[in-house]
Amino acid sequence: MAGQEQRRRRHRVVLFPLPFQGHVTPMLQLAALLHSRGLAVTVLHTAFNAPDPARHPELAFVPIHEALPDEVTCPGADIARQLLALNTACEAPFRDALASLLLLRGRRGQDQDQGSVACAVVDGQCYAAVDAAAQLGVPVLALRTDSAATFRTMLAFPRLRDAGYEMLDELVPDLEPLRVRDLIRVDGSDADALCGFIARVAGAVRSSASGVVVNTFEGIEAPELAKIRRELSLPVFAVGPLHLMSRAPAEQTTLRAPDGGCLAWLDTRPPRSVLYVSLGSVATVGHAAFEEMAWGLAGSGVPFLWVVRPGLVAGGEEEAPPPLPDGFSEEIKNRGKIVTWAPQREVLAHAAIGAFWTHCGWNSTLESVCEGVPMLVQPCFADQTVNARYVTHVWGVGMEVGEVIERGIVAEAVAKVMVGEEGARMRERAHRLKMEASAATSLSIDSLIHYISSLPT
Ligand code: UDX
Repeated sequence: MAGQEQRRRRHRVVLFPLPFQGHVTPMLQLAALLHSRGLAVTVLHTAFNAPDPARHPELAFVPIHEALPDEVTCPGADIARQLLALNTACEAPFRDALASLLLLRGRRGQDQDQGSVACAVVDGQCYAAVDAAAQLGVPVLALRTDSAATFRTMLAFPRLRDAGYEMLDELVPDLEPLRVRDLIRVDGSDADALCGFIARVAGAVRSSASGVVVNTFEGIEAPELAKIRRELSLPVFAVGPLHLMSRAPAEQTTLRAPDGGCLAWLDTRPPRSVLYVSLGSVATVGHAAFEEMAWGLAGSGVPFLWVVRPGLVAGGEEEAPPPLPDGFSEEIKNRGKIVTWAPQREVLAHAAIGAFWTHCGWNSTLESVCEGVPMLVQPCFADQTVNARYVTHVWGVGMEVGEVIERGIVAEAVAKVMVGEEGARMRERAHRLKMEASAATSLSIDSLIHYISSLPT
C-alpha cells in the first residue's frame, strides 16, 4: 500500500478553480480527495478570492499573477461579462504557470517527491484554461461544479438557441422535465455575452477536455450522467457529493468568516422548528423583495435563521449588510436570528432545522439533500432554475416560494413547508434522499484515481 501511494505521489495533478465561493469549495474538496488517495496536488489560483494555503498544508499553492479588469472584481458586476473577462485575463498567466510546472519535470533531478504533472483539472467555466492546458499537451479534465442536468443544458445550448423556444412553460425536448423557463436565462442586455460564454464552455469540453468530473452522484442523476456519457464519448466521473466524499471540513474552504454563534442559538430551539434562509454567496434581491422576505418571515410565525450578507440587496452597500426594515428587529427579537455568514453545513446538520429557503446554488442544494432537509426554492440566476426544478419536480423535496416575493405568499409557503402535510411528505422524501447520498459509492472516484495514475508522466 505504501509503495502504491509513493508511486501515485509521483503523479501530480494541477487544479485551477474559478475564484468564486461556489466554485472554490468543490475544487478544494476535490483537491483534498485526490491527496487523500495518494496523488500530489498543486492548486494554481488567482490573487482575487485566493484560497488560504495555511488551511491546506498538504497541498501546494501557486498564484498565477493575473491582472483582472475592474469588471471582474467590482461588486455587482454583470456575471456574463465577468466570466468572459476572467477567462481572457487568466489565459496567458495560467498557461505560463502551468508551463513552469512542466519545466520542473526536467529540473527535478533526484527530488522524486515533487511528482511530475500527469494532468490538470480545471473549472469547466474556465474554457480558456481548458484550451490552454490541452495546447501544452497536458491531459485536462473539466470539473463541473454544477449538476449533470445543468451541464446537459449547456451542451444542448446551440440546438436550443436555433430552435428559438418562446413558450415559457413548454417542456424542452430531450431535457424533460425542464421547461423553457428553467433554462439558464439569456435575455436582456447581456444575452449575447452569455450565449458566447456558454458556447465557449461547451466548445472547450468537446475540443480540448480528456474527460469530465461532476460533483454529483448516480443516486440522483443517473439518467443525466448516462446521456452525457453517450453524447461526449469521454470518461465522465461522478465524484460527488464532494463534501461527503472528501471529508474536507467546511472551514477549510470558506472565503468568509462564519458566525458560529448561531449554532448555540439553534441549540436552544426544538427539533425541526427553525427555517434556515440563505441565498448563497452572489445572488442579489431588489430592495422591495428584501422587505417582503422580512415581513413574510415575520408573518409566518416560524422561527428563522437568516443570512443577510453584505451585497445581498442589489445596488446597496457592498461592505456592510443591508439595513433591516424599520421595526423588523423588534418584531423578531425572540424568534429570529440574523447573521452575515453562517457555518452552513453545520447549520443544515443541526436537529433544530426544519427547512431551507434557498436560491438553489448547486452546493447548497447538495448540502441540503445530504442532510435530508426539505427546501423552499427561490432560484435567482444561472443554474439555480435547473436545480430548483429538480428539487421540486424530480426529487419532490421542495416547493417554490412563489413567482412573486410578496409577504402574504411568503408567509403561506413558509408555513406549508414547516408545518403542513405537504412539508411532511417532502421531509420523508428528503430523508430517503439523504440515505441515498450517504450510500453514494466511491466507484467513480476509484476510476478517476486509476485514470490519473495510469497517465504517463
Ligand atoms: C454560485 C451560483 O450562484 C450557483 O448557482 C452555482 O451552482 C455555483 O456558484 P453560490 O451562490 O455561491 O454559487 O451558491 P452555492 O453553490 O450554493 O455555494 C454557496 C456555498 O457557500 C455553499 O457551500 C454554502 O455552504 C456556503 N455558505 C453559504 C456558507 O458557508 N455560509 C453562508 O452563510 C452561505
